[in-house]
Amino acid sequence: MKYESQKIAFAYFVVAMVLFLVQVSGGLLAGWIYVSPNTLSEVLPFNVVRMLHTNALIVWLLLGFFGAAYFIVPEEAEREIHSPKLAYLQLAILVLGTAGVVVTYVFDLFHGNFLLGKEGREFLEQPLWVKVGIVVAALIFLYNISMTVLAGRKTAITNVLLIGLWGIALLFLFAFYNPANLGLDKLFWWYVVHLWVEGVWELVMASILAYLMLKLTGVDREVVEKWMYVIVGTALFSGILGTGHHYYWISAPGYWQWIGSIFSSLEIVPFFLMMVFSFVMVWKGRREHPNKAALLWSLGTTTLAFFGAGVWGFLHTLHGVNYYTHGTQITAAHGHLAFFGAYVSLNLAIFTYAFPILRNRDPYNQVLNMVSFWLMSGGMAFMTFVLTFAGTVQTHLQRVLGQSYMEVQDQLALFYYMRFGAGVAVVLGALLFVYSILVPRREVIEPGRAELAPAE
Ligand code: HEM
Ligand code: HEM
Ligand SMILES: [Fe+2]
Repeated sequence: MKYESQKIAFAYFVVAMVLFLVQVSGGLLAGWIYVSPNTLSEVLPFNVVRMLHTNALIVWLLLGFFGAAYFIVPEEAEREIHSPKLAYLQLAILVLGTAGVVVTYVFDLFHGNFLLGKEGREFLEQPLWVKVGIVVAALIFLYNISMTVLAGRKTAITNVLLIGLWGIALLFLFAFYNPANLGLDKLFWWYVVHLWVEGVWELVMASILAYLMLKLTGVDREVVEKWMYVIVGTALFSGILGTGHHYYWISAPGYWQWIGSIFSSLEIVPFFLMMVFSFVMVWKGRREHPNKAALLWSLGTTTLAFFGAGVWGFLHTLHGVNYYTHGTQITAAHGHLAFFGAYVSLNLAIFTYAFPILRNRDPYNQVLNMVSFWLMSGGMAFMTFVLTFAGTVQTHLQRVLGQSYMEVQDQLALFYYMRFGAGVAVVLGALLFVYSILVPRREVIEPGRAELAPAE
């Protein structure tokens, strides 16, 4: 560790991993409720379990991004973080908010209260006071990171990272606007949900990936930067108007069917480029970095993001197809592999890279970490196939033959059993990952070897 304040990342990553375990366990419970619908239905109903699953996902991914920024920025800017105290205060606010959401939902507190009670918009379910807390935490973060970057060396990586993180915070403000008209509600809801994962989160992904490639492969900074600019350009060009693929059936004007279809098809390009980028860098790289597990996760994230977001996104993005598949298990198949490939794996890549450095050790428990990669990725891939089959059958029976929703669900039971099986593999993989990262090796060999000086 070159800078003392990089240590902040340690706290963020540990909290993120705890929530990661909560998230996948919540998914497993939700998957079990699908095969045995009365499970816990009085105590912890499906809608609450599902909310905990999806929100824990978003929160831990964001904590991972924040931690990554605290880890990367000192090295790039060649400065300590402006105020470590503020960074820990920010983390405390986010943890308090998360606990607030859990308690409010599990015990259904303050029912109907506009400030303290639940808000039931998918992904934005946090009570209003938690949303305000999130904004305060985001402001602290942006202040802290921007001050550090402004005072130090400015690199393309920190610039793109900062723009992405500012974008995340600004777009979140649309979560406060909740019009009574359902069409308008959806229109603005997607400003957060779509413009996050298919816009500004991609900038964060491109910059963290660029950093990892720089460190792991030793390729020249200029080369990495050129790739990053092209990726960012194509991501914004396609992703912004690509929002139209959510405007097909919500009473928005008809031209969105064409704008959405054309631009969202182009969204495959940045994901394809990221995949090519990572492989070309490894191929051209001059460095044999000892952290093989971090390299595996880096290649895994671009490959699975290309399939999950790019291929599985394209599968249902043309309006003629989406007319039939909208809101079926096809959507869930895509949602799982896209989130896992792009953002879960990216976070696990930076955790894998950073932990040995944060603990001043050689890269450790590589084999266990790599086994966890295959277990989790294999489990998610299998889950995606199963849900895709389920969604195809569902689309045909329900949307083509016109059978009723519940009648069709009955016929999908076998797929839901298999989804649960895939989920067990994913949860085991997640436990193994956290074990391999947190459980130390006894002796310290050549402390600091993990951070070979970059060949710039
Ligand atoms: C890190 C891995 C995972 C990620 C990134 C993830 C992500 C998501 C997302 C984004 C949704 C919302 C989907 C949508 O709106 O279409 C969701 C729902 C769900 N997930 Fe996961 N999940 C993960 C792991 C799991 C696991 C291990 C299971 C266990 C079987 C699971 C089961 C479910 C279920 C049952 C739902 C609700 C689906 C529905 O309402 O029909 N997930 N997950
Ligand atoms: C990493 C990037 C991406 C993530 C994390 C992601 C995640 C998701 C999730 C969770 C949903 C379900 C939302 C809901 O209704 O609750 C969704 C819907 C959708 N996504 Fe993505 N996505 C990504 C990229 C893409 C791309 C690149 C495309 C197109 C090529 C795409 C096409 C779609 C479409 C068409 C829907 C609507 C499905 C429906 O009508 O039910 N996505 N996405
Ligand atoms: Fe989208």
